[in-house]
Amino acid sequence: MAKNEVKNDIMDKIVSLSKRRGFVFQSSEIYGGLNGCWDYGPLGVELLNNIKLAWWKTMTYRDDIEGLDASILMHPKVWEASGHIANFTDPMIDCKECKARFRADQIEDCECGSRAYKGRKAIKCFEEGKFTEARQFNLMFKTFIGAIESEDAVVYLRPETAQGIYVNFLNVKDSTRQKLPFGIAQIGKAFRNEINTRNFLFRTREFEQMEMQYFIRPEDDEKWYEYWKEQRINWYFEHGMKKEKLNFVPHPADKLAHYAKAAIDIEYQFPFGWGELEGIHNRGNYDLTQHTQFSGKKMEYFDDQTKERFIPNVIETSAGASRSFMAFLTDAYEEDEAPTADGKVEKRTVLRLHPKLAPLKCAIFPLVNKDGLQEVSKNIVSDLQKSFKVFYDESGAVGRRYRRQDECGTPFCVTIDYDTIKDNTVTIRDRDSMKQERIGIDRIKEYVMLKVL
Ligand code: GAP
Repeated sequence: MAKNEVKNDIMDKIVSLSKRRGFVFQSSEIYGGLNGCWDYGPLGVELLNNIKLAWWKTMTYRDDIEGLDASILMHPKVWEASGHIANFTDPMIDCKECKARFRADQIEDCECGSRAYKGRKAIKCFEEGKFTEARQFNLMFKTFIGAIESEDAVVYLRPETAQGIYVNFLNVKDSTRQKLPFGIAQIGKAFRNEINTRNFLFRTREFEQMEMQYFIRPEDDEKWYEYWKEQRINWYFEHGMKKEKLNFVPHPADKLAHYAKAAIDIEYQFPFGWGELEGIHNRGNYDLTQHTQFSGKKMEYFDDQTKERFIPNVIETSAGASRSFMAFLTDAYEEDEAPTADGKVEKRTVLRLHPKLAPLKCAIFPLVNKDGLQEVSKNIVSDLQKSFKVFYDESGAVGRRYRRQDECGTPFCVTIDYDTIKDNTVTIRDRDSMKQERIGIDRIKEYVMLKVL
């Protein structure tokens, strides 16, 4: 198989596993789906929540960062001030032949590729003028607030969570009495009417961001920019992502977003190529200055030591929760071999998710469905469920049950057998090493919690 086919093959397997095991479904699937929108199934929502919780704990369980949950709909002036109405656009072009639509800065395969425009030929086609002139297309979704659909009632679905943080800068500072440097963190939905959605969850129209704005003295910007770069890449490593799959890619000066003084992306090597996971941006004092001008409220900080009054600078860390989900899932996906009960080996699919991120933390299996083993198992389940997500499975051979849990990343499986009845011990099996250990029922909770919380 050619290299590209192998990569697409992995992507196809991940998309298919996602549907089969209930990680991700196409939005409104029974109506043919809605482009660029996805639904997280029972296991997917657990994984997504665990990623968000891991981020939230790292970013806000510290003295200098406060949490926030601002509304999605905001005053339309916010987007004038932030520059999104004027600048949040992509250049859009259409293929005159097959009417496929592209971002002019990201020429890709054309729909009619099977005929003439595949791959680099699309660029040739572009150069030969087979595309329409580029038009600027604003990516914000518009809607109306109230009963009358007039220009005065237009509001936007936020395209980033960051602005909710800026407009609350004074509220958070005053209510918490934080001193510089301090940050405000938020997780929430963002919406962009992307011209081309693609690569599963990578570029979607509705997605979640995990953003933090760190307010600093202007002269400290380089120090904190470096600090946050380091912190953020380490977060992915600490949650199990392979080192060789992550990279920093700085934005060249002529490609910086309208608000940024400097910016760098953390990129992940997806099966389809390198793609941005998170941006770390030195936003200067652009946003607070703009909101000062547009709202008339002074978005300032008073330093009671130096008696200076100034608009702080900001270092932003902006990660996609949905993109991280896809990266963690892809990174964890492996195919290896496992021993069967009759001493042979068989292929297994395993998600080597970090135990903190795994959707299910532990599965409980009665060896047989008789002689009181189910009752003992169910009692263990109800005790463990008070602390973490547990799965009970009594169907099929134990080997099959292991395979089902490996495939969705469950770090521990516990089997209840006849010895359990005699001495209150169980077999606990580790997903990665496949080693089995005998421990007391009273130790299961502590054993699992040490790894998963
Ligand atoms: N506040 C700055 C900001 O929004 P961005 O680089 O446009 O910066 C930050 O977005 C992150 O949000 C990206 O690194 C990516 O993980 C995620 N993201 C952006 N657009 C996305 C989309 N259409 N689909 C999924 N995730 C997206």
